[in-house]
Amino acid sequence: MTAVTADAYEAAFDAAVAADERIEPRDWMPDAYRATLVRQMAQHAHSEIIGMQPEANWITRAPSLRRKAILMAKVQDEAGHGLYLYSAAETLGTSRDELLDKLHTGRQKYSSIFNYPTLTWADVGAIGWLVDGAAITNQVPLCRCSYGPYARAMVRVCKEESFHQRQGYELLLALSRGTPEQHAMAQDAVDRWWWPSLMMFGPPDDASAHSAQSMAWKIKRHSNDELRQRFVDICVPQAESLGLTLPDPDLRWNEERGHHDFGAIDWTEFHEVLKGNGPCNEQRITQRRRAHEEGAWVREAAAAYAEKHRTAQHTEPGEATA
Ligand SMILES: [Fe+2]
Ligand SMILES: [Fe+2]
Repeated sequence: MTAVTADAYEAAFDAAVAADERIEPRDWMPDAYRATLVRQMAQHAHSEIIGMQPEANWITRAPSLRRKAILMAKVQDEAGHGLYLYSAAETLGTSRDELLDKLHTGRQKYSSIFNYPTLTWADVGAIGWLVDGAAITNQVPLCRCSYGPYARAMVRVCKEESFHQRQGYELLLALSRGTPEQHAMAQDAVDRWWWPSLMMFGPPDDASAHSAQSMAWKIKRHSNDELRQRFVDICVPQAESLGLTLPDPDLRWNEERGHHDFGAIDWTEFHEVLKGNGPCNEQRITQRRRAHEEGAWVREAAAAYAEKHRTAQHTEPGEATA
C-alpha cells in the first residue's frame, strides 16, 4: 500500500466513525483499533463463560422446580453470550482457539466479579440484580459501538440481560418478604456483592488506561465514572422497593448534582483480585481448563460432522444432508 492510499483509507475510517456509521469486518481499520476490539471482546466473551460457574454452583440446590428452570435458562444464556462474542471477535481475524488459549494461560482476563464465591442461594438473586444490572448499564451503550458485529451482538445480549436482572430482583424480593432468616440472607448477599458490582465499571476515569482512545473511536460512549454513577442512581430506589439497604453509610442524594453521592471504593481490593488474589481466581480457571479438556471430544466430533456434511454437499449438490 502506498503512503497516499494508506492516508485515504485512514481518512475514510475517521469519516465513518465521525458520521456514526458502522465499521464492518472487511473495512480498513487501524491496527490499534483492531487490537483494542479483540482485547475487549475477548475479555467480554471470557467473562460470559466464566460467569456461568458461580451460578451453576446453585443449580442442583435451587429451592424449587421453577427456580431451577429459571436458573438453568439463565446460565445457558451466558454460554450463548460467549458464543456470540467469540464469533464477533473472529470477524477481526482471530480464532476462538487462540482466544481460549489466552484465557487458559492467563494472557487475557475476564471480569474480576466472577472471582467472588456464591455462598448462599440469595447470591443468585444478588448476582442477577447487581451484576447483570451493572452489565446492562455497561452494555446498552455498546449497542451503538462503532464496530458493527460487536454492536449487533450486544442488542441481543442486552435483551437477555434485562431478563437476568429481573429474575434476580424478583428472587431477592421473595426472600426479602419471606421469613426473618430469608430477609437476612438477602441482605447479607447484597452487602457482599454491592462494592464488587461498583468495581465492574473499571478504574476511575483518571486512572483508566484505555478509556480516552476507546471513546474517540466510539467503542465506548460513556466513561467508567459516568456509568458507575448511572448504576448507583438506578439501584438506590430499587433497593428501597426491595426493603434492603445498600452497605454504604456515605450514600445520599445530592440535590445540587442531581445524583447520589457514594463512598470511596477500595481499589486495593480490585487490584488484588485482578492480580489473581481474589477468593476464587484459582478455582475458576482450573475448572475452565478442565471443562475445555473434557469437552475436546465434543469439539472433535462436531468438526468431523461438519466436515462430512461439507464433503457430502460438494458431491451431491441439492441433496438433503440430514
Ligand atoms: Fe451475559
Ligand atoms: Fe447475564
